[in-house]
Amino acid sequence: MVEISTSILSVKKEESIRKFYDLEVAHTDYFHIDIMDGKFVNNNTSEIMKEYVNEIKQISNIPLDVHLMVSNVKEYIEEYIPVKPNIITFHYEAIEDKKEIINLINYIKENNIRVGLSIKPDTKIEEIYEFLPYIHMVLVMTVEPGKGGQKLIEDTLVKIEQLKKYIKENNIGLDIEADGGINLETIKEVKEAGVDIAVVGSGIINSKDYKETIKQLKNI
Ligand code: DX5
Ligand code: ZN
Repeated sequence: MVEISTSILSVKKEESIRKFYDLEVAHTDYFHIDIMDGKFVNNNTSEIMKEYVNEIKQISNIPLDVHLMVSNVKEYIEEYIPVKPNIITFHYEAIEDKKEIINLINYIKENNIRVGLSIKPDTKIEEIYEFLPYIHMVLVMTVEPGKGGQKLIEDTLVKIEQLKKYIKENNIGLDIEADGGINLETIKEVKEAGVDIAVVGSGIINSKDYKETIKQLKNI
């Protein structure tokens, strides 16, 4: 059964407490926290996401799935360690030096937090094979990072299938998460490609009944 990580990117400030409470009651498996610095991607959500995380921590114990779309990865890891997320994912494309990727992976793990590595639609999956033994999850972007409400890029599903095959053949235990443009129309092909966790933002946040939507996403 696929797990659902609800992206709170499209939640509006004036309705945030209500929405987070509704997601708690709807039993989303994770809150997906999209942190953007205005440099790695144009949008800047660092302030609002900090506020939202504080609100969520007062309402819910549901694990946080932190997605860093930032250039200064270390700075944001340090900012989020204190909130004890379940996982911190950063982008492969944000780091030039491969040794630095390993250092960041170790730094997150030393703080007893799981580690994810994310790749953009144009990045080949083979580029991150060398890091797979050291991480807990690969986040395959199924849209260009930077905003919600975009259309899923079909080609990225091939990368998910390729990754699934590779980790099976090489006996590597890790989760595959897909992120962007996933909703009741696209969830079936995303599951068939082999994901373990699906990030859904507008497909849940804009729906009438969160519990029903999450149930449908899991059961399709
Ligand atoms: C995009 C974010 C995604 C996005 C998902 O940069 O990483 O998590 O918010 O939103 P939807 O589901 O609306 O594409
Ligand atoms: Zn995301």
